[in-house]
Amino acid sequence: IRVLSVASEAVPWVKTGGLADVAGALPAALAPHGVAATTLIPGYRDVLARLGKRPRTAHKWADLFGGPARLLARDAMLVLDAPHLFDRPGRPYGDDAGHDWPDNWRRFAAFARAAADVAGGAAKGLRFDLLHAHDWQAGLAPAYLRFAPVAGSKPVPAVMTIHNMAFQGYFPAEVFPQLGLPRQAWAMDGVEYHGGVGLLKAGLESAQAITTVSPTYAREIRQPEFGMGLDGLIRARGQAVHGIVNGIDGAEWNPETDPAIAARYTAATLPDRSANRAALAAEFGLEAGDGPLFIVVSRLTWQKGMDVLLEALDHLVWLGGRLALLGSGDAALEAGFHAAAARHPGRIGVRIGYDEALSHRMQAGGDAILVPSRFEPCGLTQLYGLRYGCVPVVARTGGLADTVIDANVAALAIGAATGVQFDGVHPAALKAALDRTLALWRCPEDWQALQRAGMAQDFSWARSGAAYAALYRQLVA
Ligand code: ADP
Ligand code: GLC
Repeated sequence: IRVLSVASEAVPWVKTGGLADVAGALPAALAPHGVAATTLIPGYRDVLARLGKRPRTAHKWADLFGGPARLLARDAMLVLDAPHLFDRPGRPYGDDAGHDWPDNWRRFAAFARAAADVAGGAAKGLRFDLLHAHDWQAGLAPAYLRFAPVAGSKPVPAVMTIHNMAFQGYFPAEVFPQLGLPRQAWAMDGVEYHGGVGLLKAGLESAQAITTVSPTYAREIRQPEFGMGLDGLIRARGQAVHGIVNGIDGAEWNPETDPAIAARYTAATLPDRSANRAALAAEFGLEAGDGPLFIVVSRLTWQKGMDVLLEALDHLVWLGGRLALLGSGDAALEAGFHAAAARHPGRIGVRIGYDEALSHRMQAGGDAILVPSRFEPCGLTQLYGLRYGCVPVVARTGGLADTVIDANVAALAIGAATGVQFDGVHPAALKAALDRTLALWRCPEDWQALQRAGMAQDFSWARSGAAYAALYRQLVA
């Protein structure tokens, strides 16, 4: 089966969050299951700069939403080079100040149109059996396949994956006539959404199957609290909605071989970890202590419960804990963490920014990773934590609920526990979770059992790759 995977970001080319990890890892995850996946991403300025020695031009558009465009091919990767849309400074979805690009609807409509063209066979020599669209940026691709396919092409089924229901790509009705869709697409079961155009909604209505990145999130988005206005649609699509948990790239995230960390280790050589712990404390200017060293690697947003964490920090310090935090996001939260660090010098260290190598050092040196998300479709940092023996302390929601086994009495007794879960993202619940974590920490046997059990878990792509492949097969048949 030949699949065109369509994503607005993919490692190693461009990343703002977990979507990039997943889109980047999918092709290799699918290959063992007889699926040849090719990834299509936009040709942002940085991507083009790194493409290197003259990629092949696989297709040309004389006019793609207001300018010429080319499809560049390198290995199993396709890049949409459309300078009028993607060749600009700043970030994938906005400028450096964090304002969304005002023409995002056009940028990602063009991206989706190009994807549908390519999936439909417009590019000579490239054939596909199925299109897999990720998030709102690719949401129109299934709609183009449904309402405006390449003339003469055979029908191409589509899968729409929701990585985050909170981002829906909603634009005013005025853009509809410029999308190149027929009138009948302006309908409740088409692209119309609350009087405007919904890009994710269009994909969810048009794709033959919908997936999201954990079974629990697949259930949660049927409820108004998590569905963000699309819960009715998700309920209506019933059996077409699947939850497939993300894997992680076990070569990239492996404490045994990780070139970014000071001391490499395995579950059998856990004591070697302490060198990483000491290095991490020093790097964040934290004093030595006998309490746990907590880490956070996260976007600093409401979704991630970072405001609630701020309210629990005095308690964390009072318990004897220390915190190393790496993240960026909301200005108020960034300021809040800076203030907490100033209040607790030597106990709380904060790095505002994005630093891949540092995130590896943190997973390798931290004792526990805090993920107090209000909702979390899957979450990857807790998976990296498990792999690195950095015990996850997580809110019981979405993929966090599915991937961490709470250290309750029964799970501890059989050695199955891998972390701490808590219900309800508010300060009292988080503080209680920190208390429980401390109690476990004080019993080294229990703590090491948590670390070992976590490190023994298999979060490779093997199972999820097979699940996607099975779904594709069903749709192509
Ligand atoms: P989301 O995609 O919602 O942000 P995930 O947990 O799925 O959450 O993925 C986040 C990814 O981004 C992980 O790979 C994580 O390590 C990485 N990440 C987040 N913030 C930073 C940061 N400030 N520096 C380095 N990596 C980060
Ligand atoms: C989104 C979600 C995150 C998930 C990631 C990859 O960014 O917020 O939970 O892990 O997509 O699927």
